[in-house]
Amino acid sequence: MTKRKPEWIMNMIVHTDAMLETDAEAQKMLEECLVRMPNQNLSQDEARQVLEFMRTL
Ligand code: HEM
Repeated sequence: MTKRKPEWIMNMIVHTDAMLETDAEAQKMLEECLVRMPNQNLSQDEARQVLEFMRTL
């Protein structure tokens, strides 16, 4: 939450493949990790709950 805006994180969770195709930050991580994050098929609401959880960390 300190590195990324909430919208960016929501997009990474909900639109994982599109982010890995188009977002420079996500692509930089893909180059580092060499693993494509599998889309977790979270709903918008579930992703928002994960985001709220991340705020508590
Ligand atoms: C509900 C489960 C998950 C959530 C909420 C989640 C969320 C995220 C977020 C927010 C990022 C960006 C991190 C950053 O900006 O520093 C990220 C990146 C990443 N995640 Fe996940 N993730 C989940 C599950 C997984 C799983 C199961 C894998 C297993 C391989 C995974 C692999 C990765 C990788 C490798 C990256 C770096 C980008 C890439 O190389 O694709 N994630 N994840």
